[in-house]
Amino acid sequence: MTTKIDPCTLVLFGASGNLARVKLFPGLFRLDLLGRLPDEMKILSVGRQAVDLAAWRADIKGMLDAKFKNCVDAKVFARFIARNFYHANVPTDADAFKKLKNTLSDEKVFPQNLAYFLSVRPVDFAQVVDQLAAEGLTNEDKYWRRVVIEKPFGTDLPSAQALQKSISKHLKESQIYRIDHYLGKSALQNILLQRFTNTLLEPVWNNQYIDHVQITNTEMLGVGDRTKFYDTTGALRDMIQSHILQTLALTTMEMPQDLTPEGVRAAKIKLLEQIRPIPVNELSKHAFRAQYAAGEVRTSDGKGEKVPGYLTELEDNSSVVETYAALKLFIDNPRWKGVPFYIRTAKRLHEADTRIAIRFKKSPLQVNAQDQNWLIIGIQPRECIKMEIQSKIPGLDINTRTIQLDAANRLPEDDSVDAYEALLLNLMQGDNSNYLHISEAEAQWRLVDPVVKAWAADKKPVHQYPAGSRDPAASKVIFEAEDQFWRYSIELDGDAH
Ligand code: BG6
Repeated sequence: MTTKIDPCTLVLFGASGNLARVKLFPGLFRLDLLGRLPDEMKILSVGRQAVDLAAWRADIKGMLDAKFKNCVDAKVFARFIARNFYHANVPTDADAFKKLKNTLSDEKVFPQNLAYFLSVRPVDFAQVVDQLAAEGLTNEDKYWRRVVIEKPFGTDLPSAQALQKSISKHLKESQIYRIDHYLGKSALQNILLQRFTNTLLEPVWNNQYIDHVQITNTEMLGVGDRTKFYDTTGALRDMIQSHILQTLALTTMEMPQDLTPEGVRAAKIKLLEQIRPIPVNELSKHAFRAQYAAGEVRTSDGKGEKVPGYLTELEDNSSVVETYAALKLFIDNPRWKGVPFYIRTAKRLHEADTRIAIRFKKSPLQVNAQDQNWLIIGIQPRECIKMEIQSKIPGLDINTRTIQLDAANRLPEDDSVDAYEALLLNLMQGDNSNYLHISEAEAQWRLVDPVVKAWAADKKPVHQYPAGSRDPAASKVIFEAEDQFWRYSIELDGDAH
């Protein structure tokens, strides 16, 4: 299904920042390459510095050359570059937004359907919207006007609500596009389809058959040069509050009434609001945190690289901010009553992998201790679905072994679409199903806030794990049953408990 896009102008705040360079311009260029941008579509980059148009276009060309060396379609390249304009919004200029309005008012150049992409500091979101509104630039009387707010939408529930209060003075919910870039990933969009378009899966997708579910996102990278940001955020807020809870919602929600943005979001909201609050008085049974210490990570040449610990990188030994976070959650509805959901994320673990691992209950006939089926949905790096089932070992004796049915969700010839590319297209199409509704953002903050607070108040040194290692053994405290263990990506991990 392709939706027609109205002629529009994308107004890009923070256009010289990293996100724009690495994701937005390449994403837009790819859309142009695929013929998905309307001919009249323009991109107006807004930055603090005065840059003349020729220099700005040369800069964009440089960004694209780096990524699309082999893409030599000069015609598309020229067409894309010609879509680009620049506007200097000098921070000290009281009339900056008047001037922006003036620039945009040239209807011959700029289509008047306007999408504003705010890739700016989160503290500036509300103010930019205020200023756009003051100039009438969010007014939808004749044309549509949409505003994209980058992650994070607030840093806790009160700040998210304050931001919402402020921007909703000027914008209707349908105009606000809150980013969680995981929703732009094809592998996440597939969860819903794979669940509900296969008769095989839906009947067993409940507490009658499922023992527990693990949703995991681990990275081999450390916090890099983001130490200051990271130390005000931590793994729980950075990954769990957003990407992992969204993955959980897609894995567990009821079938939406229809596949409209309203239908999909309503089903996710309902689910997120059914997650039981984490009992802070029993936190140690439900949540575990740790920090990476110095260690060695795998490198592509197989040699391994010694890396420093988080506290050393931060140059502050007193930080209790987690780089590893694991939670046990329950969902209070009939489908999931009693099923634990273990969700975890970490920097500097032994592998970079995002997956949903579902362990089924014991079968009626037990031949081996390990007779439980697993179903694994690989999100990244490999998009796949794997089922582990028991099978007789051919021979004279009665014995079973685990075999894997392993299918790629992505075939080599499939288009590889970056999450931002997909989200930018949705934005111009007016489809916000892959953007967060305010109720989702709120439910997610409501859930993590008490844990964030409790962890911040507890200043005891945080458990350390060597960079490049597997989950700290101590993290197992959150398991409900003795025979549960962290499931890793590839091996049949009898040995990986
Ligand atoms: C971001 C987090 O939202 O997602 C980063 O701030 C994290 O810390 C990143 O590394 C992971 O995204 P992806 O798409 O690389 O899995």
